[in-house]
Amino acid sequence: EKGGYDYFMLKEIAEQPKAVADTLLGRIDAAGSLTLDEVRISPSELREVDKVVIVACGTAFHAGLIAKYAIEHWTRIPCEVELASEFRYRDPILDGRSLVIAISQSGETMDTLMALRHAREQGSKVLAICNTNGSTIPRESDAVLYTHAGPEVAVASTKAFLTQLVACYLVALYLGQVRGTKWGDEIGAVIRDLSQISGEVERVLDTMEPVRSLARSLADKNTVLFLGRHVGYPVALEGALKLKELAYMHAEGFAAGELKHGPIALIEEDLPVVVVVPSPRGRSVLHDKIVSNIQEIRARGARTIVIAEEGDEAVVPYADHLIRIPATPTLLQPLVATVPLQVFACELATARGNEVDQPRNLAKSVTVE
Ligand code: F6R
Repeated sequence: EKGGYDYFMLKEIAEQPKAVADTLLGRIDAAGSLTLDEVRISPSELREVDKVVIVACGTAFHAGLIAKYAIEHWTRIPCEVELASEFRYRDPILDGRSLVIAISQSGETMDTLMALRHAREQGSKVLAICNTNGSTIPRESDAVLYTHAGPEVAVASTKAFLTQLVACYLVALYLGQVRGTKWGDEIGAVIRDLSQISGEVERVLDTMEPVRSLARSLADKNTVLFLGRHVGYPVALEGALKLKELAYMHAEGFAAGELKHGPIALIEEDLPVVVVVPSPRGRSVLHDKIVSNIQEIRARGARTIVIAEEGDEAVVPYADHLIRIPATPTLLQPLVATVPLQVFACELATARGNEVDQPRNLAKSVTVE
């Protein structure tokens, strides 16, 4: 049932191009517009929304962090993202015009469920982004967008994460489409880019051998740091989470702009630091900033592992290891940038002799607090 793979995680990583395509299936019409009829929140209700609040845990929370950049950019609706375990125990300000999005692979995570109950008690509409048909979170929500990733068996989430991202982009673009924003043209173009993205994920998977051998060479390290900016920041957090849970290593993700505010003190000779580099096209200021961050850490001895777009030559002199990903629009880059980090964590864990599908102390679905 592992389809020839040693671990479910490897199988699920390999399934990502199909999973991503399945999340899009039937949701883009012939004219290139989105049809999310299954989202039973009417266009007029969506036009009334004045705030989006995303609640989730773990990897799903990282998808939510990325969604915030997309939602605010494409819709200009303020968006907050919060860990469900924090949200449910404070006194969040919500009302009938707030749209709460609960993201959960299993649909059974207790903290996320409690957060959505709390939101509904305040009169907010709740949209679930979920992978498990008929699970509790979608049943208790006003609407659900299923991710259609297929069953995810490995404890560490991979294909569910990529499809959560696609679902988040769909919701963001749909909100933009329904409300009409100044980004109208951009939305059409992004929908076209999204419909191509499965092939780009496939291309990344085809080039992972150097990432595997790099991972094996780092098996005796204690610490790996991850840096990113903009949507690359949650990607860094996700890379660090995967490494913690699978390789049991000290792994931390930082916003690259925060380096000088503390984390740079951690840099020492030969410390591996993975850097997720934004596209040099588009918002090139982000790119330039991160290139100087790479120079700063390298000057202090870091061993830089740079994930950068094909054709980005500016990073070459500062990369001890260079991992290439296809060029994508900035906001979609997490769909390709996360994949090498999954492979990296899986291979490092294997090299350290860990059980990849069932990491110690973890459960696939956290139905207790
Ligand atoms: C990490 C991982 C967990 C889950 C989290 C939420 O690889 O799998 O962090 O993402 O427990 O689970 P769901 O999405 O089922 O609510």
